[in-house]
Formats: sequence, structure tokens, C-alpha cells
Amino acid sequence: MVKAIAIITVSDSCFKDNSKDTSGPTLLEFVTEKFPEANVHTIILPDEKEIIERELKYFCNSNVDLILTTGGTGLSPRDVTPEATKAVIQKEVPALTIAMTIESLKKTPMAMLSRAVAGIRDRTLIINFPGSQKAVTECIEVVKTVLTHAISLIN
Ligand code: MTE
Repeated sequence: MVKAIAIITVSDSCFKDNSKDTSGPTLLEFVTEKFPEANVHTIILPDEKEIIERELKYFCNSNVDLILTTGGTGLSPRDVTPEATKAVIQKEVPALTIAMTIESLKKTPMAMLSRAVAGIRDRTLIINFPGSQKAVTECIEVVKTVLTHAISLIN
């Protein structure tokens, strides 16, 4: 059973004005429907590697089963979500983000510009998603079928 989930929006602009966040609420809607039993935490962070790392570790230490991040996976100088994720995971699960890229490329060549990472820290699965509502909707569709099994395997 999935007990707890964290959704982390990583965006300087959403951190300043949370009404701009559309991808976090899209992930929230998805997890609320897919895992109605889970306690879901949501948070918006600026594009700061140390802050992202600290919050990822906090949620992992709080026995959250699944962390979904959105934003900060691209090429701009402030995009550091994949670096923060790599710094905290103990095992990478590359095929999750490879599958997202393969499917996303059927919709847009811009999918090549996401450096999203997925992996495990202790008993928590962490998956990065790109930062737009459209990208989140397309990528969640790709991984949603394996989430329950993936979480059961690490518990
Ligand atoms: N993936 C899908 N499925 N759909 C998209 O529209 N947008 C891309 C890419 N991945 C996109 C996508 C774009 S335009 C960028 S810049 C990168 O994700 C990184 O986005 P981020 O920096 O907001 O994380």
C-alpha cells in the first residue's frame, strides 16, 4: 500500500507566485486518483540544489513512498533538479526516464531537452518530470502503469 507521497514543484517563478504552478496540481490530481489511500504532501521550491536535496532527504527520512518532482530538468543555468536528485539517490532507475523520453519524442522533439532522473533512496522512489503541465500529463501517462509494482519492490 502506498502510504505517503510528496509532490515537489521546482521553479523560481512558482516559488515567488504559487498561483503560477500548474504542473504540481496536475501531479496532485493524478496521485489523488491513483492512490486515494495515500497522504500527499505538496511543496514549491526555488531552483536551488541544496534546498532541493535537503527536502528530498527530508521526505525520504519521513518514509514517503514516492516523490514526484516537476521542473528544473532542462538546460538553463538554474535547472538543477537532476543534480540534486543524483546527489541523494543510491540507485538510479534509468529506464523510467528513458521510457518517458521515448514516448515524449513522439509528441515533441523538445523532449530531448529534459535531463530528468529517476532513482531510489532507501525505500523511496524519486521521479523527475519536466516543468510544464503538458509535459507532466504526457510523462505520467508513460510511467503510471509501473508505479504500484515499483513501490512494492522497494518495500
Ligand atoms: N516532455 C514532454 N512529454 N512534453 C513536453 O512538452 N517539454 C520539453 C521537455 N520535455 C516537454 C517534455 C521542454 S520544452 C523542456 S525545456 C524540457 O522538458 C525541460 O523542462 P523543465 O526545465 O521545465 O524541466
